Amino acid sequence: MPEPVSEQTISVEINGETYEQEVEARKLLVHFIRDVVDLTGTHVGCDTGNCGACTVLMDGKTIKSCMLLAIQADGATITTVEGLAAGGELTPLQRAFSASHALQCGYCTPGMLLSAAYLLEQNPHPSEEEIRRGIQGNICRCTGYVNIVEAIKSVAEGGGA
Ligand code: FES
Ligand code: FES
Repeated sequence: MPEPVSEQTISVEINGETYEQEVEARKLLVHFIRDVVDLTGTHVGCDTGNCGACTVLMDGKTIKSCMLLAIQADGATITTVEGLAAGGELTPLQRAFSASHALQCGYCTPGMLLSAAYLLEQNPHPSEEEIRRGIQGNICRCTGYVNIVEAIKSVAEGGGA
């Protein structure tokens, strides 16, 4: 007989909504966000902490949600890409990504936006080097990063992420 999988009830606030849910102790946070809460804007690229596609904000800081168990987020406040555009209005950063053609396939974009938003919150006027350092945990296979850096720079120069 297989061992029963242990479950635990967690309470997590995601994009302003509280989810109280029983989860398997082994479930990764990214799978909780995508499969249980159904917020599929958070992507899975590598499942090993390398690509940054799964980046979300947890208690205001960027984390790679494939590197945490859902039960480790018990009591936390999380923002996913769906939580950026409050009331459906895109943020200046999202608009800048669109205007600067800072995406091609878009797979990296949710994680990239959250890393960029965090960077601009910490440092509203980063240098190009600081921007590149701020997104170094997010891999983009399409753009070559130039337009992503341009988009972030344009928001830094105009103010407000
Ligand atoms: S899926 Fe989490 S870092 Fe790649
Ligand atoms: S736009 Fe395709 S991976 Fe970044």
